[in-house]
Amino acid sequence: MINVGIIGFGTVGTGTAKILLENNDVIEEKTGLQINLQNIADLDIERDRGLKIPEGVLTREVSDVIDNPDIHIVVELMGGIQPAKDFILRALNNGKHVVTANKALLATEGNEIFEAAEKNSVSVGIEAAVAGGIPIIKVLKEGLVANRILSIYGIINGTSNYILTKMTEDGIDFSDALKEAQSLGYAEADPTLDIEGFDTAHKLTIISSLAFGIPLSYDKIHIEGITKLTLQDIEFAGELGYKIKLLAITKSVNGEVELRVHPTMIPENYLISKVDGVLNAVYVMGDAVGETLYYGRGAGDMPTGSAVVSDIVEIAGDIKNKGGSSHGIEFIGKRSDLKIKAIGDIESMYYFRFTALDRPGVLSRISGILGNYNIGIAAVIQKGRRAGAAVPLVVLTHKARERDVQKALQEIDRLDVVADRTAFIRVEGEETEGLND
Ligand code: HSE
Repeated sequence: MINVGIIGFGTVGTGTAKILLENNDVIEEKTGLQINLQNIADLDIERDRGLKIPEGVLTREVSDVIDNPDIHIVVELMGGIQPAKDFILRALNNGKHVVTANKALLATEGNEIFEAAEKNSVSVGIEAAVAGGIPIIKVLKEGLVANRILSIYGIINGTSNYILTKMTEDGIDFSDALKEAQSLGYAEADPTLDIEGFDTAHKLTIISSLAFGIPLSYDKIHIEGITKLTLQDIEFAGELGYKIKLLAITKSVNGEVELRVHPTMIPENYLISKVDGVLNAVYVMGDAVGETLYYGRGAGDMPTGSAVVSDIVEIAGDIKNKGGSSHGIEFIGKRSDLKIKAIGDIESMYYFRFTALDRPGVLSRISGILGNYNIGIAAVIQKGRRAGAAVPLVVLTHKARERDVQKALQEIDRLDVVADRTAFIRVEGEETEGLND
């Protein structure tokens, strides 16, 4: 019998407890493992979670879980950095295996947590920290272990994807779409984490470390959220045959790793463009397997609980077979010292929306500057005719270097015929490596 204790009885804690109580027979039938939910610790043990918890399981004392000699696996589902970090370290130093869904903690403090686990020869299960119910951690650790990973593209924040889908399909503005996403319970307690791209970056930190063996490198990610996107840009993207998604991108290019989170235009006929609403998807390209795509629910009590329990079962199997070990930890940040590419060095296609005066010669002045920086034009749209007034002038480029793009835009924005700061969005597709349809 493997005894499990949960700390944090919120949404995911409730889903996890429900699965452990109600699917216990299925797990035992499939694996032969008997898993016992011994304790759940939370300050609030009165609130009705719609679940019948057996007598004696609930406790207000976290030490009933993390210092309890009978408990083999501690499941941290309280979220936040502290006191979650101290509780996890205490459990690891007590020789307990830990399962956590805490992506913010893993991304920012994970190197210390994995070191403590290794020192104590125990495991840290992190399946639930990325893309909820999609088993992307096991894909990278096991399913695709034979591959050199070439690129990963993820839609891994349901709240942002929901907002972008609503803006695209219903033409509603950003703040109304955010309110709807919050009412559905997908947003983080602080929605800034979702809409500014930080939650996506937390998850990308973990995926890139597994994929490329680099240390957890949250502070090296280029992060842009979706708060500056306008309905106008979404509509122009549609006219050009693209959707806008908040993508987590990591790829290995010429011995360097790209790590970036930003709104990205992708051709609307690509499979990943069709991932809408709160759903998540992760596209992984490996050198042996080619392209693969994983799709499902990235948040919510039961999908995330499903991922938590899969880690519990894996660790329980390790305990039964081998007495437990720090299996899988070698994947995190130990295998390579690949350099992270500066954002200025990346190459991408670009969408620009200039606010330019509708006057003869303006396009040639703008295209002249783009040409000076080696930026080729693939398509142009100008909407409306208001002689002498400012109108949107949209340009789609061929592949160009970001540093050149930044310099060109600074020069263009200083022109007297340009009335406002130019909007720009990176475009992935036909000319960029790493993402196919
Ligand atoms: N706020 C996150 C999301 C929850 O919207 O995807 C899951 O990490």
